[in-house]
Amino acid sequence: MKHCVVYSIGVLSVLILIAGIAMVLAQVFQSLLYNRIKKEVVLENGTDAFAVWKDPPPPVYMQFYFFNLTNPEEVLSGDRPAVIELGPYTYREYRPMEGVNFMDNGTKVAAVNPKTYIFEPNMSRGSEDDVIRTANIPAMTVMLKFQSSFFRRIISDLMKSKNEGLFGTWKVQELLWGYKDPLLVELEKFDPTLDPDFGLFYKMNGTDDGEYVFYTGKQNYLDFARVDLWRGQSSLDWWTTEQCNMINGTNGATFHPIINKTERLYMFSSDLCRSIYTMFESELSVRGVPAYRFVPPREVFANMTINPDNAGFCVGGNCLSSGLLNVSVCKQGAPIIMSSPHFYQADEKFADDVFGMRPTKEEHETAIDINPLTGIVVQAAKRLQVNVFIEKLSGFSQTGNVRTLVYPVMYINESVLIDGDSAKKLKVLVTEANVVINVPFIIIGFGILLGIVFIVLMCRQERGTPDECQPLLSS
Ligand SMILES: *[C@@H]1O[C@H](CO)[C@@H](O)[C@H](O)[C@H]1NC(C)=O
Ligand SMILES: *[C@@H]1O[C@H](CO)[C@@H](O)[C@H](O)[C@H]1NC(C)=O
Ligand SMILES: *[C@@H]1O[C@H](CO)[C@@H](O)[C@H](O)[C@H]1NC(C)=O
Ligand SMILES: *[C@@H]1O[C@H](CO)[C@@H](O)[C@H](O)[C@H]1NC(C)=O
Ligand SMILES: *[C@@H]1O[C@H](CO)[C@@H](O)[C@H](O)[C@H]1NC(C)=O
Ligand SMILES: *[C@@H]1O[C@H](CO)[C@@H](O)[C@H](O)[C@H]1NC(C)=O
Ligand SMILES: *[C@@H]1O[C@H](CO)[C@@H](O)[C@H](O)[C@H]1NC(C)=O
Ligand SMILES: *[C@@H]1O[C@H](CO)[C@@H](O)[C@H](O)[C@H]1NC(C)=O
Repeated sequence: MKHCVVYSIGVLSVLILIAGIAMVLAQVFQSLLYNRIKKEVVLENGTDAFAVWKDPPPPVYMQFYFFNLTNPEEVLSGDRPAVIELGPYTYREYRPMEGVNFMDNGTKVAAVNPKTYIFEPNMSRGSEDDVIRTANIPAMTVMLKFQSSFFRRIISDLMKSKNEGLFGTWKVQELLWGYKDPLLVELEKFDPTLDPDFGLFYKMNGTDDGEYVFYTGKQNYLDFARVDLWRGQSSLDWWTTEQCNMINGTNGATFHPIINKTERLYMFSSDLCRSIYTMFESELSVRGVPAYRFVPPREVFANMTINPDNAGFCVGGNCLSSGLLNVSVCKQGAPIIMSSPHFYQADEKFADDVFGMRPTKEEHETAIDINPLTGIVVQAAKRLQVNVFIEKLSGFSQTGNVRTLVYPVMYINESVLIDGDSAKKLKVLVTEANVVINVPFIIIGFGILLGIVFIVLMCRQERGTPDECQPLLSS
């Protein structure tokens, strides 16, 4: 009888092992879990994902760093500019989704995303009244526009009378949120459609950048929170309308769940008038939550020679070198060029052209850390530099003997870090998921344990008493 129990244990252990291995191979528990997550991560009234998408709980900070020019006279006579970095000037950014309107049977949702900025003196070095000497962007724009026009002379004289040159000083507050430019005020008299105010974030406080239509992820989880239309235009129109359009991407801190290390994640940036993609770089842990770090590869900012996808940014065969994006068309013709801060990952000549640039990976790269299971962004820093293209223009003595430059004005670091409460919740969820995914391995472990018990009992039996089953079987 004892012998039969021993054999049963043996058979049971083999069965459990087979069942466990079958479950591992079929990924039953993993599929069940993933299916549940795919169902839950949908933009739908009532889901957690919707609540987080509508009102993101962790604080988002927008930090501005300005470059203060120390040698304007020398620059006008052809020297390299020397700049000193100032800041951060930090703002808390609120970005709720508003006017939420579900469409097409819940497969799409329309919304606007107004952003409000509140100054945070405690997280800033300096005040909004700090004075910055930098390039005169409105003047450069006007001079470029009229460089070969009949009005060139008039404009130049007007600038002299208003005491406007290639460089000037403004308060941080003015540069960001707007000021009346004396030259634009004069020009408005001839062209009433012209806005006499200028600011890098002029009219951006409390206003939205147009209506978005997102996929809810109901049809396909991979589409969760992906932008379908922006300002009524589809990503598919990009190549035909050479305008401030967008390519596929998500806006804000939302990605689809169950992220794969090999995929490209697109994020839409209205500053760049398009989306940029990021690729897996490393695994890390943020506040105890496992995450994948995604960064834009060098090719994203590469010029057309290296990355033909960037052909849209070459206008009339006029391409910029690697690491720069010409966004002039999106900025009412202002000669604005975007790059990574301190020209990180750009052609070295740009950093060499300006004294005070020190590009480093840790400080100046854009990175998003995403929990791969849920697609929730646990940490991110979007870093972009605003530069102005400066060149000597004949007929405008204001440009002196300046060398052709991509002149850095300021850079931003828009960052987010998951709050403690959300991190705690996410940690519990990830732990539970790990247990569920490991159920088959636990079963296999149990099978192995039984197998060991079986072997031990067998050995004892061999050494010990004679068979008890034999008579039973033969009788
Ligand atoms: C979501 O549901 C609540 C109440 O259940 C309702 O008041 C609200 O209008 C709904 N929102 C949308 C966008 O449908
Ligand atoms: C909307 O969904 C319902 C239920 O899922 C379905 O019966 C209906 O046909 C759908 N309507 C459209 C226009 O897709
Ligand atoms: C933005 O608008 C909000 C509310 O209207 C206001 O409190 C805040 O001071 C504004 N921020 C800036 C930088 O003007
Ligand atoms: C920036 O430079 C200008 C001109 O040298 C100077 O007046 C100003 O104080 C500087 N700004 C700061 C915040 O140091
Ligand atoms: C955007 O996404 C659609 C649908 O997934 C795809 O057909 C299209 O090729 C994508 N466009 C770009 C530019 O990636
Ligand atoms: C693109 O960048 C590479 C390397 O920076 C450079 O050699 C090449 O001339 C650039 N091409 C154009 C069209 O600017
Ligand atoms: C940037 O693009 C504009 C037109 O969109 C073009 O006129 C200008 O020459 C370009 N700037 C540079 C530096 O290539
Ligand atoms: C943003 O980036 C800058 C450098 O680019 C860094 O000094 C700063 O600490 C970052 N801010 C946050 C909140 O991570």
